[in-house]
Amino acid sequence: MQTSQKLVLPAMGCGTWAWGNRLLWGYDESMDEQLQAVFNLCVSNGVTLFDTGDSYGTGKLNGRSEQLLGQFSRGYLGSNQETICIATKLAAYPWRLTRESMVSAGKASAKRLGRNVDLVQMHWSTANYFPWQEWVLLDGLADLYEQGLVKGVGLSNYGPKRLKQVYKKFSDRGVPIATLQVHYSLLSTYPVTELGVKEVCDELGIKLIAYSPLALGLLTGKYSKKGSYPKGIRSLLFRQLLPGIQPLLDCLQEVAESRTKTRAQVALNWCICKGAIPIPGAKSVEQAKQNMGALGWQLDAGEIAELDKAATRVDKTMVQNIFQTQ
Ligand SMILES: NC(=O)c1ccc[n+]([C@@H]2O[C@H](COP(=O)([O-])OP(=O)(O)OC[C@H]3O[C@@H](n4cnc5c(N)ncnc54)[C@H](OP(=O)(O)O)[C@@H]3O)[C@@H](O)[C@H]2O)c1
Repeated sequence: MQTSQKLVLPAMGCGTWAWGNRLLWGYDESMDEQLQAVFNLCVSNGVTLFDTGDSYGTGKLNGRSEQLLGQFSRGYLGSNQETICIATKLAAYPWRLTRESMVSAGKASAKRLGRNVDLVQMHWSTANYFPWQEWVLLDGLADLYEQGLVKGVGLSNYGPKRLKQVYKKFSDRGVPIATLQVHYSLLSTYPVTELGVKEVCDELGIKLIAYSPLALGLLTGKYSKKGSYPKGIRSLLFRQLLPGIQPLLDCLQEVAESRTKTRAQVALNWCICKGAIPIPGAKSVEQAKQNMGALGWQLDAGEIAELDKAATRVDKTMVQNIFQTQ
């Protein structure tokens, strides 16, 4: 049986990697009320796509992001409630070796959410280190769709070559690929400019989702080489990147000022103008509010060209995901 429910994707979503992640993002349970307010604000303003993963949350908090999302979406009674779209990613853990294990993983995510998953995504491809594992996992992903347990299927961290192979495999079963999620921002243009994933997505009718669209917060301009750094692993990365990205941050600021917007809003609008759905992670109502200000207007061609130029001049950009395939 194939699902008859339609998957509807808005222009922007909200990422929840930080929700439950103590080690990298400094999450603690006292933030939950604030995260619920972020969720409510987003949905009431039409930002109804939420991206999570069954690996999100560290240590004992593994799965926490899915649990919180479920709790928030079940408790939400307001406008756009019917269009909430929960997208989760199933990890290609080394101990997941059968298609049944993927179906079970999908069911476990739905259990944590307390509701159906709308979009199920393969979190990463094992092509770079264990290509044989991947095909059975993909079979399981397609099974979830065929069994009517999800409305759509997507991939994450796939390059065009691998994407085309999976597309062919899924087409043979009549399973459409709805989305491809890649690391895409002004500081990570590689998947689009070098690999060419956008052209292939357009050719195959797949919607591109841009993850880490604010480069983990760097593109907001709030961190600077003279000023504050975030706590944890991000600070190491930011120390390496900040000295070289000032001209890009200046360009973002210039555009932002002329538009009475913020750098974050310009960076997100740039993603939208490139035909992608950005899913910025928001930890507070203020951040979510600001990010939503990326909607409802459009950079012009000249501004996009200036930003593109500034992005190509950055010598050290964001590190690419090790699982990103060709
Ligand atoms: N498929 C994959 O392999 C993969 C990988 C990574 C991420 N993702 C998805 O993409 C989502 C977003 O990516 P991300 O969280 O890694 O990075 P991001 O969206 O680029 O950055 C998010 C961080 O930037 C800061 N921030 C957000 N909005 C802000 C604003 N308006 N003003 C100032 N600071 C702001 C916050 O951190 P601070 O306040 O602490 O600075 C926030 O946690 C994730 O939640 C996840 O769903 C997917």
